[in-house]
Amino acid sequence: MPAESHLSAASSDGPRHVALIMDGNGRWAEARGLPRAMGHREGVQALKRTVEAAPRLGIRCLTVFGFSTENWSRPAEEVSDLMGLVRSYVASDLKRLERAGVRVRVLGRRAGLPDDIIAIIDRAEATTAHNDKFLLQVAFNYGGRADIVDAARRHVDAVLAGRATGPLDEESLGLGLSTAGAPPVDVIVRTSGEHRLSNFLLWEAAYAELVYQDVLWPDYGAEGLADAVAQYRNRDRRFGGRAPLAEAAAPALAAG
Ligand code: IPE
Ligand code: IPE
Ligand code: MG
Repeated sequence: MPAESHLSAASSDGPRHVALIMDGNGRWAEARGLPRAMGHREGVQALKRTVEAAPRLGIRCLTVFGFSTENWSRPAEEVSDLMGLVRSYVASDLKRLERAGVRVRVLGRRAGLPDDIIAIIDRAEATTAHNDKFLLQVAFNYGGRADIVDAARRHVDAVLAGRATGPLDEESLGLGLSTAGAPPVDVIVRTSGEHRLSNFLLWEAAYAELVYQDVLWPDYGAEGLADAVAQYRNRDRRFGGRAPLAEAAAPALAAG
């Protein structure tokens, strides 16, 4: 049963789906007097460590934010460095992911990406499509608002083409999102001390727990992820319902 169908849920046995805003590469590099590109390169190593550590923590799905629809506004050189990360990550890790049973899915708009990046993304998805042990979703040229707009357009197109007649509701719109089919997002983690979503998973964030960590992304790995999971497990998810009164608290309330 999906977690969101509970009125109230303890988080002790999750999270199944962790979403990560991998932030702080630039500050990591600047603090060392290095070019920002070095921070992005180290960020890829952190991503590898984190993906490897996730299954050991009981996580079945990771969604990571690699490039936002707003990141195009950075200087061309940095945009090109960030595109290069896809090439190096896939070139150096795809075989291991494939063998480890990881299915890779890339969220976000393909239009606007360089042709070779689109080919790399398509290959990574195709080679791992049969895997079902773990789902790694990489949000690249992704924006939460754009994704909702695209989902609404898909619904309208389907209606106009006679392929859909049903109403536009939360379920039918959700089916058009790029995350459709993935388990509900349990927790969104952001590194680097910033407290905002920056257009990540806006729809899916509805009842996700939010965890903010000060660590800069290139320093992230098993330890940071375990800490985020521990914070999540201390949360009480209510989904708009009511938390059952803790046994110890009930008499005190009655007396007071
Ligand atoms: C995150 O690091 C990587 C991407 C946005 C792709 P930043 O490049 O945003 O690093 P800071 O936030 O400037 O430190
Ligand atoms: C969010 O980080 C995007 C990614 C991590 C890919 P940003 O660094 O782009 O976000 P802002 O600009 O600080 O909000
Ligand atoms: Mg940033």
